[in-house]
Amino acid sequence: MAARGLGLFLASTGMAFNGLLGSTNLYTYSPPPPLPTTFFNHPSENLSSASPQQVHISSVGEDKMRISWITTDSPTPATVDYGTSPGVYNFSATGSTSSYNYMLYISGDIHEVLIGPLTPDSVYYYRCGSNPSREFSFKTPPAQFPIKFAVAGDLGQTGWTNSTLQHIAESNYDMLLLPGDLSYADVYQPLWDSFGRLVEPQASQRPWMVTQGNHEVEKLPVFHSKPFTAYNARWHMPYEESGSGSNLYYSFNAAGVHVIMLGSYTDFGPGSPQYQWLQADLGKIDRKTTPWTVVLIHAPWYNSNTAHQGEKESVDMKTAMEEVLYRARVDVVFAGHIHAYERFTRVYNGKADNCGPVHITIGDGGNREGLASNYINPKPDISIVREASFGHGQLEMVNETHAFWSWNRNDDDEAIISDSIWLRSLSSDPACEMQK
Ligand SMILES: [Fe+2]
Repeated sequence: MAARGLGLFLASTGMAFNGLLGSTNLYTYSPPPPLPTTFFNHPSENLSSASPQQVHISSVGEDKMRISWITTDSPTPATVDYGTSPGVYNFSATGSTSSYNYMLYISGDIHEVLIGPLTPDSVYYYRCGSNPSREFSFKTPPAQFPIKFAVAGDLGQTGWTNSTLQHIAESNYDMLLLPGDLSYADVYQPLWDSFGRLVEPQASQRPWMVTQGNHEVEKLPVFHSKPFTAYNARWHMPYEESGSGSNLYYSFNAAGVHVIMLGSYTDFGPGSPQYQWLQADLGKIDRKTTPWTVVLIHAPWYNSNTAHQGEKESVDMKTAMEEVLYRARVDVVFAGHIHAYERFTRVYNGKADNCGPVHITIGDGGNREGLASNYINPKPDISIVREASFGHGQLEMVNETHAFWSWNRNDDDEAIISDSIWLRSLSSDPACEMQK
């Protein structure tokens, strides 16, 4: 209860082409107020403490998957049995188990197992800890175009989060990209568990690839001085495989897309390990196999909302890294942090630039802090669409040269496409040759 009290106290503290100017389908819309954080109970809560819960998966390399789940109280093996038919598990793999302490909170057993090699674009059935009570299934991403990403940031765990997740589930996506701020536990650790239960139906079926936001730091002077304890323990991303020394930044390939997850809340300045890793990672991109490059950060580098203006994670990180991304011809930069949607044109150094990335803020997943509804006026010319509503994005890479981006505003029973644009890959634009 002490931890809960402290936690709650602290918690209180139309279409266009080629990324150029586009028209939209926006109509006047009054977003409803946010809903409070809710504890989501899992239907299997009455099962034994060895039953797997909070199951989620993430891609490792192009043919493996990391399966993560939690059990409480009762020892259970870190084993995943899997196969391509329901109830038939021809393969088995064993991994590791860990746990962590956060003040008075002791986590359950966090299990993770790497499975594979797996066939692309295929459905696998699996069970965790050899426990027969629950069977899960997932689909591996395709090895070739097309591939569809769902993109949603600042999720939290409110009724609006639930709405976003339901719409994402209906989108037939291949992989989720999350630009930070997951559970909004804000040091009250049981909220990490309820978040794990909330997202499990989706996160156990498709790889969820995430990076951290400010709500993942959870560093408390005196009480808990180590940052990212819960995030790193619960959401192990494939950083080792991309030569990164930190779970806070990494990259991976999916079909023909090179995705780079950056860390806005760890060192990013020139000379920092993250900066050096980023330069090396960009230098290794083979545009023949991955013609698209997408980057995710948390604090946006371009933002015409009045929220979060002037923060060093935005201003200093942009100063340090924007030219590096520009020279590498990154196609799109996604950010969260602002609880609203905003799409910019291709930009570099504050100006429209046909060889710069499209910057998109997609921090409208539905968290308890509500929407950021105030904008700087007049609207900057480089900001094409901005709206404070909950929703999610879909980025469908159709082929080597073209992709379709849509922003889907939450409505009661369906996701409404409220902004969309066709993008052309910079690697296919002779005017935008990659600069080493
Ligand atoms: Fe944030």
